[in-house]
Order: sequence, then structure tokens, then C-alpha cells
Amino acid sequence: MAENAEKRRGEDTRATIVLSGDRPTGKLHLGHFVGTIQGRLKLQEKYRQFVMVADIQALTDNAENPEKIRENVLEVTLDNLASGIDPKHSTFFIQSLVPEIAELTVLFLNLVTVARLERNPTVKDEMRQKGYGGNVPAGFLTYPVSQAADILAPRATLIPVGKDQMPMIEQTNEIVEKFNRLYPLNPPVFERVEVFASDIPLLPGIDGKAKMSKSLNNAIYLSDSNDTIREKVMQMYTDPNHIHETDPGTVKDNVVFTYLDLFDTDQNQVRDLKNRYEKGGFGDVALKNHLIEILTAFISPIRERREYLAKRPDDVMDILRSGTEIARTVAGKTLSDVRRAMNINYF
Ligand code: TRP
Repeated sequence: MAENAEKRRGEDTRATIVLSGDRPTGKLHLGHFVGTIQGRLKLQEKYRQFVMVADIQALTDNAENPEKIRENVLEVTLDNLASGIDPKHSTFFIQSLVPEIAELTVLFLNLVTVARLERNPTVKDEMRQKGYGGNVPAGFLTYPVSQAADILAPRATLIPVGKDQMPMIEQTNEIVEKFNRLYPLNPPVFERVEVFASDIPLLPGIDGKAKMSKSLNNAIYLSDSNDTIREKVMQMYTDPNHIHETDPGTVKDNVVFTYLDLFDTDQNQVRDLKNRYEKGGFGDVALKNHLIEILTAFISPIRERREYLAKRPDDVMDILRSGTEIARTVAGKTLSDVRRAMNINYF
């Protein structure tokens, strides 16, 4: 994936631009780290990167609660900064303060059918989860179009997101193709986009459910205290048949091992632990204690940087303010190309 982007960069005069976003509905957790932040950390070294706070998208299913979204704009930015996303390399901005994204959304909505939106697997899952029935908010149904506008406003082509976002990327590419076909310009206004590191599996929740998520109440947060980490790991789903320490245990679908695979830097040791667990004689508590050590060492420095930054909210808001200005300038340029391609640049 990244190699493709690199190749394209070599052939193309346009430099690769990276964009991803977080919904400000709560603090970020390890699932966000694995799915997105890890990719951002790698990509900010090489490419021009935008990190967006997706407040408009968050409102599509939180219209009754704008106060929650407002509070979490700061929280998700703190999580990113504390994880090492560096405003010197990455441009942070707030979605709702870039009106060009809303304008692009309106133009893109004509290129997408309602039936296609209803087939989007991520939207479908979420609609079911929220129990909308026939009463899905139109803004919610169409958020993949708005997400395409997020991506295409700064003409990003490389998107560090988790597997669950693949359907959004597919819809974005359909919009790219349709736009370029209906409104040809040379070079075309938009390029196809690709996911970075789409092979990383979704991080399961501590309960073993497929996805770590705030709404499922199965998440470990980047801001969790050591005590909370310990409590959550102790509740973690392992092997329900591994009752006595002497019993042979199962590694597959054992959440503790999934986490060790992703967070333990000593993979030889993990292999050794798996062997011992499968043989029997290695108990869940000892195994969990090891994971607690690993996760505490991983999260503590993030949490400490976060606490430091949280005492300086004005500095954080300044980062968002100046980044938003840059994003507006870039999006304005795209929109003027869009208007030119569509021949609606009247004056
Ligand atoms: N839908 C993404 C999520 O739920 C957030 C998001 C909004 C996003 N706009 C984006 C991700 C653009 C990548 C690109 O996590």
C-alpha cells in the first residue's frame, strides 16, 4: 500500500497527501491507536498530513448533544498530541470550520444514490446497532459522502484507517471516478485514494467482541490510569475452558494474546508464552500480569504527556486554529478547481 503511494509520488508531480479523522464523541482508546494513530505516526515522517476532528460527522448521530461533541474536540486532539502526532509535521483542523467540505458534500451528493448509501456495510451495521429502523437521519445516511469530501478537500490520497473504514474508501473512489468522468479536467481534479496498512486486524474489545468501542463499553483508553488498566485486563476474555492452571489453554481468539501480538515488542517471548499456555501449567493471572506490565509501559508516557498538555488548553486550541486556516486555504483551491471542472465558476 505505502509502496504504491511512494511509486505514485515518484511519477507524479503532486506530493502524496495523507488525511484521517476522529469523531469527537469520547476519548481515544487502543483501538484508535492500532487502527489510525500508529499509521499517522509513520506517515507524518514522510508526507504532508492532515488530522481532522470530525465534529460534523459526530453530530450525524449526536444532534441532540452538541455539548458532548464540543468537549471532546479538545480530548481527541490531546490524545493525538500525547501519542506523538506532531503539529510541526501534521496539520490539525476542525471539520465544521472548513465550510468548503460542506460545499463539496452538497456537490458530491448528486453523484451517489440512496440505494448505494443503504448498502454501505459500515453504515448498515451502525444503523442496526443504533436501532434507527425507518427513521435514520438523512445526515447519518449520507455521512460517507461527507467523509469523501473530508478526504478530497485537501486532495488526500493515503488514508490511515482501520479495516472498518474500507467501505468509506470504496465510496470515495466511486465519487472520484464519477466526478472525473462527468467533469473532466486535465489533469483530473481528483485521484483515487487508498488505505494505509489495511491488513492490520481490528483490535477486539476486552470482552472479546470484534471491535473495541466506546459504545460497547469494552475499551482501554489512552488516558486510563494504571489501576484502571489492571482492572480491565483482569476482566479480559481469555479461554473459557481454561479453568485450572494445569489445563492446556487456547491461544486462538484469546484476547490477551491478541493484545500481546500487537503491543509486546518482544515477540520471541510472546511465542514462548503461547507454547507454555497451550501446554498447560501457565495460569491466566500470570499471563494477564504480563499484559498489564506491557500496557502500563505503553500507556503511561502517553497519559503523562496528555496530563501535561491538558493543563494548556489554549495552546491546544491554537494548534487547531492555525491548522484550520491552512486546511481552509487548501480546500479553497480544490473547490475552485471543482467549480472550474463543473463550469459553475460564474464570476
Ligand atoms: N469515520 C471515521 C471514524 O469513525 C472518522 C473520519 C471522518 C475519517 N472523516 C474521515 C477517517 C476521513 C478518515 C478520513 O473513525
